[in-house]
Amino acid sequence: MSSTVRSAGLASIASYLPERVLTNYDLEKIVDTSDEWIRTRTGIAERRIVDPQQCTSDIAVPAAVEALERAQVAAEEVDLIIVATVTGDYVFPATASLVQDRLGASRAGAFDLQAGCTGFIYAIATACQFVSSGAMDTVLVVGAECLSRLTDWSDRKTCVLFGDGAGAAVIRPVEEGQGLLAFDLGSDGAGGSLLQVEAGGSKSPACLDTIENNKHFISMNGNEVFRFAVKVIGESAERAMAKCGLTSAEVACFIPHQANMRVIDSAAKRLGVPMEKVIVNVDRYGNTSSASIPIAFDEAVTDGRIKRGDIVVCVGFGAGLTWGSCVLRW
Ligand code: ACO
Repeated sequence: MSSTVRSAGLASIASYLPERVLTNYDLEKIVDTSDEWIRTRTGIAERRIVDPQQCTSDIAVPAAVEALERAQVAAEEVDLIIVATVTGDYVFPATASLVQDRLGASRAGAFDLQAGCTGFIYAIATACQFVSSGAMDTVLVVGAECLSRLTDWSDRKTCVLFGDGAGAAVIRPVEEGQGLLAFDLGSDGAGGSLLQVEAGGSKSPACLDTIENNKHFISMNGNEVFRFAVKVIGESAERAMAKCGLTSAEVACFIPHQANMRVIDSAAKRLGVPMEKVIVNVDRYGNTSSASIPIAFDEAVTDGRIKRGDIVVCVGFGAGLTWGSCVLRW
C-alpha cells in the first residue's frame, strides 16, 4: 500500500429507474389528495415504483453494471463497494455484500452506509479517501432505495413524496486538479425524530403493537424538515466551495437532493444561483433519497448539461439529521 496522497474522482456515473410509473392521478385513487396539491406543494408529478418481487439490490445492480461499463472497469478490479441506502434488502447482511456477489466483484470489500438522503455525498467523500490515500484504486459507490417499501400508503402527508431508484459511480485516481475538490459533512442528531422509521431496530423491535400502529413506515414533520433543509443546503454548499476557493459564479451546475421543488427554489435563491444552473428531476421521480443525486447527475451528463471539466456542486440533506456537499471537477 502506498502512502501517497493523490486526486480521486468520478470515472463514471450511471442510474437505473424501475419501469412502473405512479402518477399523482393514481395517488388520487388511493388517498385524499389531488394532482394540484402535490404539484403546488412539492413539484412532483410522478414517481417510479419497483415491482412487488424487486428489492433494493435488484435496482442497485443494473446501475452498478452500467457505471462499471462506462468506466471500462471489470467487476474483478473493484476494491470496495459502498452502498448508501436507508432501505437495504435486510437489516443485515449489508446490501453492498449482496451487490458484490451479484456483480462477481470477487476482490471487493463491501459495506452499507446510512446517512439518510445525504448518503451518496457521504459515500463519495468516503470512497475518495480510500483512493486518495493510495490504499485502493477502484471503489464502486451506489445510492439505491426502495422507499415505496417504507411508505405508509394511507398517509397522504408522506406517500406522495417518495419514489424508488438507483445511481452508481466508479471512483478512481484522476489528474491533479480534477475529481473531488472539497466536501462538507454534518449532522444534528437532536433532530432525528423529525424524520424516521421508528420501529424495526433495536430500540423498538417488530411486534404486534409496532405493526398495528404503522411504526415501520416513514414519519416526518414536513414543516420542520423544510426549514432545516433550506438552511443547511445553502450553508453546506458555501462551506464546501470556500474550502476550495470557489464561488457559485464559477460553478457550472448545482445538483441538490431532489426532495421538493420549493426546497430547491428557496435554496437556490439563498445561494444566489440562477435556476438554469440547477439540475431538477423531482417532477418525474419524487424523492429517491440516496439515489436522487446520482440519478440527476447521470441525466445531466447524458443530456450534455454537464461537460468534462465542469465544476459541479452536489448538496444533500436528510434523516439523521444529516447534510453534506461535495465540489467536483467532472
Ligand atoms: N394532499 C392534500 N392535502 C394534504 C396532503 C396531500 N398529499 N398532505 C398534507 N395535506 C394537508 C394537511 O393535512 C394540511 O391540512 P390541514 O391544514 O387541514 O391540517 C395541509 O395540507 C397543510 O399541511 P402541511 O404539512 O402544513 O403542508 P406543507 O405546505 O408544509 O407541505 C410538505 C407539506 C410537502 C411535506 C412540506 O412540508 C415539505 O415539503 N417539507 C419538506 C419535506 C422534505 O423535504 N422531506 C424530505 C427530506 S429528507 C429526505 O429526503 C428523506
